[in-house]
Amino acid sequence: MATAKVLFLALISLVALQQVLVNATFASNMKCTWGKDNCLINDDSAKLILNKWSGASIQGINQFIYGYIDMRIKLVSGNAAAVVTTYYTSSEMKEVNDYHDEIDFEFLGNETGNGNYYTLHTNIFVNGVGNKEEQFRMSWYDPTTDYHNYTIFWNPYMVVWSVDGAVIRVFKNYEDQGIPFPKYKPQRVYSSIWNADDWACQGGKIKTNYTYQPFVANYLSYQEKSCLYAGPKSVQTCNDPSNWFFNSQYKQLTQTQIDTMKSIRNKYLVYNYCTDTKRFNGSFPAECSLPMY
Ligand SMILES: *[C@@H]1O[C@H](CO)[C@@H](O)[C@H](O)[C@H]1NC(C)=O
Ligand SMILES: *[C@@H]1O[C@H](CO)[C@@H](O)[C@H](O)[C@H]1NC(C)=O
Ligand SMILES: *[C@@H]1O[C@H](CO)[C@@H](O)[C@H](O)[C@H]1NC(C)=O
Ligand SMILES: *[C@@H]1O[C@H](CO)[C@@H](O)[C@H](O)[C@H]1NC(C)=O
Ligand SMILES: *[C@@H]1O[C@H](CO)[C@@H](O)[C@H](O)[C@H]1NC(C)=O
Repeated sequence: MATAKVLFLALISLVALQQVLVNATFASNMKCTWGKDNCLINDDSAKLILNKWSGASIQGINQFIYGYIDMRIKLVSGNAAAVVTTYYTSSEMKEVNDYHDEIDFEFLGNETGNGNYYTLHTNIFVNGVGNKEEQFRMSWYDPTTDYHNYTIFWNPYMVVWSVDGAVIRVFKNYEDQGIPFPKYKPQRVYSSIWNADDWACQGGKIKTNYTYQPFVANYLSYQEKSCLYAGPKSVQTCNDPSNWFFNSQYKQLTQTQIDTMKSIRNKYLVYNYCTDTKRFNGSFPAECSLPMY
C-alpha cells in the first residue's frame, strides 16, 4: 500500500515536471519589463509601442528547456526606419563571464518605398557566443499589413526558425562534432521594440523619425508548448527521451519543408555568416562546413 502510494506520488511529480503548456496567453505568461506605459498586454493580444519617451519590452514568466513558441506579429507600418522589433528566447544573461543561450528573430525597420524592405535578422547564441547571423529581405509578403506567424522550435536535435509555417533556417545539433548546442539552460520568451538608429538603418545614417510616432508592433495568439523548468532537476527531465519533442518525427525536416526552405533562402537570404569570407578570413565556424539539415 505504502509502496503504491510512493509510486503514485512519483508519477504525479514526473508528470508535473514535464508539464506542457498549451495556449499560453499574453496575460497569463507575459510581464512588462521596460516602458510600462508602452506595453499593452491583453488576454490573447499585446501591443508594444515606441515613442519619443520610451520603447517597451515584455518577457515570459515561465522558463523552459525545449519547446515550440509561436506568435503572430504585425510589424510597425509606414516609416519604421531604425525601429527594431525583437522576438527571441534567451537564458539569463550575465554581465561578466556570460554563457547565455539565445535564439533570435529581429525585425529591422526601414523607410517606406523604393525597395526599402524590412530585414529579418536571425541569430543563435550558445554559451555566450553568437556570431551566427543570417538575414532575409522581407519582400515575399508585407509584414506590416497583417499578422504573420513566427515560430521558434527548439528540440534536442535542432533549432528551427519558421515564418507562416515555412522553415527559413535550421541550426542542427552537432555536439558530436564539438559544436555547442543549447541543452542545459532554461530560456524564456522575450519581445521588445526600440530605437536603434545608431546602427540599424544603413549603418546609422537613417534616423528614427518621430514625426511618425507612435511606432506600434501588434501581437496575437501566443502559443507555447514547452518543457517547463521547475528547478535544476528539469535539466534531466527535459532531456529525457520520453518527451514529445524527442519523437522521431522531430528529428529531421520533411522533404517538403526542405524544398520550401531552399526556395525562400535562394530568393531572400541577403546575409549568411557562413559565406562572409572577409569577416572570418577563411576560418569559418565549424558548422559552416557541415550539412545544414
Ligand atoms: C487551445 O485553443 C484552441 C483554440 O481556441 C482549442 O481548440 C484547444 O482545445 C486549446 N487547447 C488546450 C490544450 O487548451
Ligand atoms: C533598407 O532598405 C535598403 C534597400 O533600399 C537596404 O539596402 C537596407 O539594408 C535596408 N535596411 C534595413 C535595416 O532593413
Ligand atoms: C498561425 O497561427 C494561428 C494561431 O495560432 C494558427 O491557427 C495558424 O494555423 C498558423 N498558421 C500557420 C501558417 O502556421
Ligand atoms: C520626418 O518626416 C517628416 C514628414 O515626412 C519630414 O518632413 C521630416 O523632414 C523628416 N525628418 C527627418 C529628420 O528626416
Ligand atoms: C587572414 O589570414 C591570413 C592567412 O592565414 C593571415 O596572414 C592574415 O593576417 C589574416 N588577416 C586577418 C585580418 O586576420
